[in-house]
Amino acid sequence: MKGIILAGGAGSRLYPLTQVASKQLQPVFDKPMVYYPLSTLIEGGVREFCLISTPHDLPRFRQLFGDGTRWGISIDYREQAQPQGIAQAFRIADSFIGSDSVTLILGDNIFYGGDSFFRAFSEFTTGATIFGYHVHDPERYGVVEFDAAGRAISIEEKPKQPKSNYAVPGLYLYDNDVVAIAKALKPSARGELEITDVNLEYLRRGTLHVQRLGRGFAWLDAGTSSSLHDASAYVQTIEKRQGIKVGCPEEAAFRRGFLSLDQLHSLTASLPNCEYRDYLAAVVSEGRRLGGVA
Ligand code: DAU
Repeated sequence: MKGIILAGGAGSRLYPLTQVASKQLQPVFDKPMVYYPLSTLIEGGVREFCLISTPHDLPRFRQLFGDGTRWGISIDYREQAQPQGIAQAFRIADSFIGSDSVTLILGDNIFYGGDSFFRAFSEFTTGATIFGYHVHDPERYGVVEFDAAGRAISIEEKPKQPKSNYAVPGLYLYDNDVVAIAKALKPSARGELEITDVNLEYLRRGTLHVQRLGRGFAWLDAGTSSSLHDASAYVQTIEKRQGIKVGCPEEAAFRRGFLSLDQLHSLTASLPNCEYRDYLAAVVSEGRRLGGVA
């Protein structure tokens, strides 16, 4: 499965921070925001990526990640000239997707906990898989309604009167039909190619699977100054308490077998002297103690 990270948008809600760097490059505690969604997809087993951003911000992402080789992955880059909707990503990345299935993650969505995604990725075959997460303010999101048997029966984008408290997070898995579906979409009333319309088409076809994320799962969105601060505090709390890092792509690549222990070791040695390097060095030592097993 191929992976798209959508990291564009106007960034207006974080102004003036976004005068300095785009939203997805802002720090969430100890690393750039985009590290978190990238790690989530690597943990899911995705190895080939396409990062989409604005013409202005794309060079900075390129500088940050390069072609991905040092992390045992590949990263292509594509421009989104105007933010014309999340579903536009499938049109932009058409040649990257080719005939594969594809997952899309929003560059400002942070997930932590459980093995729901891991299972969703490994069990995915056809159709679409999206998720439902209980929130107190569903009107800010795509909202999915379930029937008594737990089947999804409707999805609405930012409804004034939500039919449930289940918001759809910014992580979607699709079979290759998504490209044709995205190409056939018409812009919504707000002028965007809506991801909700893609999901509705799969619902119409009877091939949409909506998996509810349980209580032990954290989905943070870092789209406003206040939620950015909350996300940083959350990551700091977990990392301090557990002594593990959330959203560490190098570690995720090692644990998925994309990097060998020796490769992780050399990569770690090339980093400047910092707390992040100390952490990776500890992962390497633990790996050696366990005989090279992640
Ligand atoms: O966060 C999950 C929600 O994301 C879903 O529940 C909604 O169904 C979905 O429409 C979306 O809602 P948002 O209001 O959060 O979308 P927003 O326009 O803020 O875009 C989300 C991210 O995607 C943001 O970081 C910017 C980026 N983006 C957005 C658009 C429309 C792009 O890179 N290009 C775009 O054209």
